[in-house]
Amino acid sequence: MPEFSTRLIDWQRLHGRHGLPWQGTRDPYRIWLSEIMLQQTQVAAVIPYYARFLERFPDVAALAAAPVEEVMALWSGLGYYARARNLHRAACAVMEEHGGQFPVTAAVLAELPGIGRSTAAAIAAFASNERAAILDGNVKRVLCRVFGIEGFPGERAVEERLWALAESLLPEKNEDIGVYIQAQMDLGATVCTRTRPACEICPLATQCVAHATRRVAELPAARPRKTPPRRATCMAVVILNDNVLLERRPPAGIWGGLLALPEIPEGIQIEAWAMRNLGIDQADARALPSLVHVFTHFTLEITPWRIDLPVAPRTLSEPAWQWLALEQIGSAALPAPVRRILEGIAEHPESVV
Ligand code: ADE
Repeated sequence: MPEFSTRLIDWQRLHGRHGLPWQGTRDPYRIWLSEIMLQQTQVAAVIPYYARFLERFPDVAALAAAPVEEVMALWSGLGYYARARNLHRAACAVMEEHGGQFPVTAAVLAELPGIGRSTAAAIAAFASNERAAILDGNVKRVLCRVFGIEGFPGERAVEERLWALAESLLPEKNEDIGVYIQAQMDLGATVCTRTRPACEICPLATQCVAHATRRVAELPAARPRKTPPRRATCMAVVILNDNVLLERRPPAGIWGGLLALPEIPEGIQIEAWAMRNLGIDQADARALPSLVHVFTHFTLEITPWRIDLPVAPRTLSEPAWQWLALEQIGSAALPAPVRRILEGIAEHPESVV
């Protein structure tokens, strides 16, 4: 799809970012320093650090010769400090393994500490016009939208597909590669932003699948949610003459203010719980079919235990407890799974104990 690179290159010449302190140099040391600083950090935050660093460490030999503590101190405030440690280690490696000559090919750059595949490609493109594809977060977003790529880009299969796509889109001429790479970075940072992208001024809008199908907000796909943890609980369905015992839930928390079935604390035998809390001498409890209720952050498996009382208990141990006539469940404020349980009871009111 040559259209893609041509449009980006034309757009970059007119609307891309120009005159940034690391543009207009072929010095791989300076380009490398800027690319490391620009990882997860905005251009405006990087500019003063970049100037201070170059003043103190004008070349890779100066950086390698400095104590790492001084490098860390000068980095202080930029964040992600592993970058600074790797910066120093990479400078030492260039001195020791490359005779002080900073590499300019993506394959060799990628061997240095702190330089991943995408950063290696960007440095090689800017320093020596090597045709190598980049794939940082911004580029992933642009590709997912323009080509309608489904799936979470952090997933290996999706990422591999994006790399192959990025390789296939490279402009043919080496001399265009620097502008093209910068265009991808600038479009992702200024137009095809994560939220509120400016599709009306985007040079790729007419070929963008997400734009055509109104799925810009949905692509790239978000990280899949981890399956929520599962909790299991037992609830008492205490029946007395077509009434059921319910508990008014406290106002805050799950089912706040609603009428729910009393929960039987874990590890307590159901019959013992019934005798203690209902003031009866003997109890028969029967498990009803379990049901699963999905909350935002967890899944609750509820096993209701039916306990039929022949006579009214002398006392109710909890002030929040009250009786509700089964015929009133239609109008009571019940959580959905409690309503389902009670509807089952109302349909088969006779106990089969
Ligand atoms: N982010 C990463 N590399 C960049 C560059 N060269 N210019 C602007 N933003 C960038």
